[in-house]
Amino acid sequence: MSDKRPESEWRFRPEEEKHDIYDLHRQAFREPPEPREGLEPPPWWLWIISVLLIFWAGFYLGRYGGTFGPYVHLLEEGKTAAPVTTVSKPGETKPTVDGAHVYASVCAACHQSNGQGLPGAFPPLAGSDWLLKDPETPIRIVLNGLQGSIEVRGTTYNNVMPEWGSKLSNEEIAAVLTHERTSWGNSAEEITPDMVDKIRKETSDRTTPWTAEELEKLRVQE
Ligand code: HEC
Repeated sequence: MSDKRPESEWRFRPEEEKHDIYDLHRQAFREPPEPREGLEPPPWWLWIISVLLIFWAGFYLGRYGGTFGPYVHLLEEGKTAAPVTTVSKPGETKPTVDGAHVYASVCAACHQSNGQGLPGAFPPLAGSDWLLKDPETPIRIVLNGLQGSIEVRGTTYNNVMPEWGSKLSNEEIAAVLTHERTSWGNSAEEITPDMVDKIRKETSDRTTPWTAEELEKLRVQE
């Protein structure tokens, strides 16, 4: 196949070509080199956002983590183990605290509403010597909590009960223990706010939960 155009059109003209190529290259090299992906440091705002996120996550876990304990899952939806405080105005006679109400909102989450506990996790209160023998032992348990191995009605439990002394008043503790000592077939004498007050004062230095062994020793002394 031969080119039919006149020679003046197809002939290679080095002067013009040369000029064009140099011009194009000059333009191209005026540009900075293309950036390449590699090990450039992250931008400063990414550091700040990361640090803020970590602080927020820490706060969130601290506030809503429930100490990673199993108890939070045992509470009914929408209910907390928050104390029931009976607010009374000055000069008003304090309404008597309803032990059954305190039990339902504080203790039943673990010991169950029928007082039978949960096998393997929470001991029963129905028919328990720890609750029914002397009045001091259950008061101590509620005020400071209980941990370690304990035998209740022939079964050994090894768990932790949190303290309620900082959350419940003497009246509330007396009422709830009296309720427990007279429910589910239990019948033991009433516990008064004065008895709770006496034990609270005696044990005000204590910051750790009791163990069954310690309670046993105190019982023998009394
Ligand atoms: C978060 C769960 C939880 C809550 C709430 C709780 N307990 Fe307990 N309770 C336990 C556990 C667990 C033990 C056994 C501890 C151990 O293994 O050393 C226990 C043991 C006891 C005992 C001695 C053992 C027995 O069965 O008699 C008494 C008495 C008692 N609790 C009373 C109460 C009262 C009263 C309340 C409410 C003010 C209450 N508990 C709230 C978990 C709980």
